[in-house]
Amino acid sequence: MSELKGREKTSSGFYVTKEAPIVTDNPVPTPSVPAPDILRCAYMELVVTDLAKSREFYVDVLGLTVTEEDENTIYLRSLEEFIHHNLVLRKGDVAAVAAFSYRVRSPEELDKAVAFYTELGCRVERRTEGFTKGIGDSVRVEDPLGFPYEFFYDVEHVERLAWRYDLYTPGALVRLDHFNQITPDVPRAVKFMQDLGFRVTEDIQDEEGTVYAAWMRRKPTVHDTAMTGGDGPRMHHVAFSTHEKHNILAICDKLGALRMSDRIERGPGRHGVSNAFYLYILDPDGHRVEIYTQDYYTGDPDNPVVTWDVHDNQRRDWWGNPVVPSWYTNGSLVLDLDGNPREVVAGTDASEMAVTIGADGFSYTRDEEGDKGFKLGNTL
Ligand SMILES: [Fe+2]
Repeated sequence: MSELKGREKTSSGFYVTKEAPIVTDNPVPTPSVPAPDILRCAYMELVVTDLAKSREFYVDVLGLTVTEEDENTIYLRSLEEFIHHNLVLRKGDVAAVAAFSYRVRSPEELDKAVAFYTELGCRVERRTEGFTKGIGDSVRVEDPLGFPYEFFYDVEHVERLAWRYDLYTPGALVRLDHFNQITPDVPRAVKFMQDLGFRVTEDIQDEEGTVYAAWMRRKPTVHDTAMTGGDGPRMHHVAFSTHEKHNILAICDKLGALRMSDRIERGPGRHGVSNAFYLYILDPDGHRVEIYTQDYYTGDPDNPVVTWDVHDNQRRDWWGNPVVPSWYTNGSLVLDLDGNPREVVAGTDASEMAVTIGADGFSYTRDEEGDKGFKLGNTL
C-alpha cells in the first residue's frame, strides 16, 4: 500500500499533518455569527426503560455517585466532578439519548448558541430554569445532523469527592471524558463541528480520502466527541475516565464475579486512535458505555493531527485484536426535543467494517508487500 496522499508517516504507523482540511460535497452552511465558546462535554441525558435495573448497573456496579434522585430520574456524577451531574437516567418507554450536553464559558455564550442554530434553521428551545435539576439557563437544539445538543453555564456546584478515598472502588470512575456519535456522512458532520469550534485530533481515512471516523476536541484531551460512520443519527457510546489500566481490569473482574460478563462487548484493550486503554460495556438497555484511561494532552495550538489508514488493523486495537461486528452496527436512538426518536438514515459512505474485515475487506499489521501479518481472530 502506498502512503496516504502527501502525508508524513510516523514510526508508529500513522500519519501526521498540521491541519485537517475536510472535503465534503454536502456541507452544512457556515453561520455568519460566532459559535458559542464550548468548554467541554458535561453530561448525557439517557432515557432508560427500567430505572431500578439501570441504577443497579451505574451505581452498584460502576460506582457512580448519586447526587439526587426521585421516582423517575437519577442524577449521577463521577468522583472528580464538581457540577451537579455527568449522567441523567430518566425513565421512559424507548431507550434513547435525550441530550448531549456541553458546558459553555459564560452565560453570554447561550445567546450565541441561540443565534448560531437559529441562523441554520434548527429548532431551538431555551429554558431559563433549565431542562434538568441542578442546571439553570439552558439551550437545547435539534442540530443540523439530527442530534439533540444542549448548552449551559449556570449549574449547582456539589462536593468534589476526589479526596474521599473511602468512597473509591477498584474501578472508580473519575470524569466524564467524551461522547461518540454515529452519523451517515462523516465529512459533513466534521465540517459542521469545526464550524462549532471543535478541532480534529485524529481521524481514520483511506487512500481515496474517505473519512470513516473523526475525533474532535474542545478541552485539551483527545476528544469531547467523535463522529463514527454508520446509520444515524445515533449515539455510539458515552465514556467515563478512570485513573489507571488496573481500574479497567477490576471492572472486568467484577462483571465476571457478578455473572455479568455478557455486558462486556469489546476489550479490554489499547486503542491505536487516542492511545487510550479501553473497555466497552452495555447497560441494561444496550446503551454502550466506554471506560477509558490514559489518552494524551492536546492543548497546544499546533497539536499535530493524526490520521490512521483504515486498513491498519492496529488503529482501533493496538494489539491487533478484531473489533466485534456489533460494535460497528449497534447504537442508541436519539430523541428530538418533543421526546420522539429521530428517524435513522442509512450511511452513505463505505462501511469501515466492510472494508476491513470479512470476505471483501482487508487489513495489515505491517505495511509491506508479502508480510501483512493480519490476525483475524475468531469473532466473525
Ligand atoms: Fe470512545
